[in-house]
Amino acid sequence: MKELEKFIIEGGKRLVGSIPISGAKNAALALLPAAMLADEGVCVLENLPDIDDVKVFIEIIRQLGGKVDRIGDYTFSIDSRNVSSYKCKSDDVKKMRASYYLLGAMLGKFKKAEVYYPGGCNIGVRPIDQHIKGFQALGAKVVTEHGVIKMYADRLIGSSIYLDVVSVGATINIMLAACKAEGITVIENAAKEPHVVDVANFLNSMGANIKGAGTDVIRIKGVNRLKGCTYTVIPDQIEAGTFMIAAAATCGDVTLKNVIPKHLTSITAKLVEMGVKVEEGADSVRVLGVAKPKAINLKTLPYPGFPTDLQQPMTSVLAVADGRSIVTESIFEGRFKHVDELKRMGANIKVEGRMAVIDGIPKLSGAQVCASDLRAGAALIIAGLIADGYTEVSGIRHIDRGYENIEKKLNSLGANIKRVK
Ligand code: UD1
Repeated sequence: MKELEKFIIEGGKRLVGSIPISGAKNAALALLPAAMLADEGVCVLENLPDIDDVKVFIEIIRQLGGKVDRIGDYTFSIDSRNVSSYKCKSDDVKKMRASYYLLGAMLGKFKKAEVYYPGGCNIGVRPIDQHIKGFQALGAKVVTEHGVIKMYADRLIGSSIYLDVVSVGATINIMLAACKAEGITVIENAAKEPHVVDVANFLNSMGANIKGAGTDVIRIKGVNRLKGCTYTVIPDQIEAGTFMIAAAATCGDVTLKNVIPKHLTSITAKLVEMGVKVEEGADSVRVLGVAKPKAINLKTLPYPGFPTDLQQPMTSVLAVADGRSIVTESIFEGRFKHVDELKRMGANIKVEGRMAVIDGIPKLSGAQVCASDLRAGAALIIAGLIADGYTEVSGIRHIDRGYENIEKKLNSLGANIKRVK
């Protein structure tokens, strides 16, 4: 039972060495439903991270009639030719946010979809009105009944869609449906995150016609058929950023391999401001910490700004930085749940709405804390690494959803983390 598992962390160890970064969670969870759009052939996805959300998504595809086989450590083949159901009403759908991509994929494939309302981390209201607005613009009728989103379209017809907020999920979801629509769809104010580009590249390899991904205007010319292809998932920007922050927190010397340094620029910039040294290689970054990082101000923003997913891990380091930091969370209003846990460890943090004022203290002290969501879990692990004595982190099922073997990777760098029941 995952619910009963905990991490016990002995603080005070410096992280030294090098580790590989896994495939990107948020790319993988969009590429899997995208693969279901193939009308012919088999998709082979390489570098899929070994995380619980990916396992659950693979199970969902199997439940819908798809054939998914593991053909290498991180390589899976996805044969969707026998996917015949557009109804995704398994409870697994409620376990994660990314299940909303079943809406776009099923709408593109069948012109209809019935999918449970998605789950995922409880970090704010998280509406999906922009996804729905996009589907409606393509011609779908959308109703929600008993927690199920139902969509039907006689024809999907390309349209112009201006997103009221920059949404990664809405951008990708509209792309999924629009690549099988008639004519041209233009998404304006689109998200520019690396995984938006990854999904566009994958769909193009399947025969789609998508231009402009990575800018705020994406143009999609619909095609009749999509075919299988082989594709490698990009490295995980957020996993890499988490380890960069952990290295900085422990005054470590850590090299991360298999990364795209360009995706990490906003994190590198903030660490450098804190006095940390970051050396970029062609596909690696080395982070050299300092004994006492400097306080900084930080605001989360859509890419290429500082990612909201790394706000929580960063807060743990700033809790022991030299001076006062102000962290502004502009994406998710409920993303400060880790702060109460950090306070149990002695942190001096005041939260006012979307802002946290952090006065650095000399040291955190180990305590029993609980991860309320995925990135809160990463933040608490980092806090445990730098605290005096032992920290017990419960709620680690959230962490396993998105980090591959986090304790194994940290232990290989010299940390002391044990998973116990
Ligand atoms: C995705 C990521 C999540 C990351 C977030 C921001 C996945 C599975 N999850 O979440 O890890 O933290 O991007 O990088 O990839 N919004 C609306 N209406 C909508 C959609 C979004 O108002 O229809 C708002 C959200 O409440 C939020 C902002 O837009 O304030 C950005 O959300 P979005 O980019 O859509 O995040 P998610 O797709 O939920």
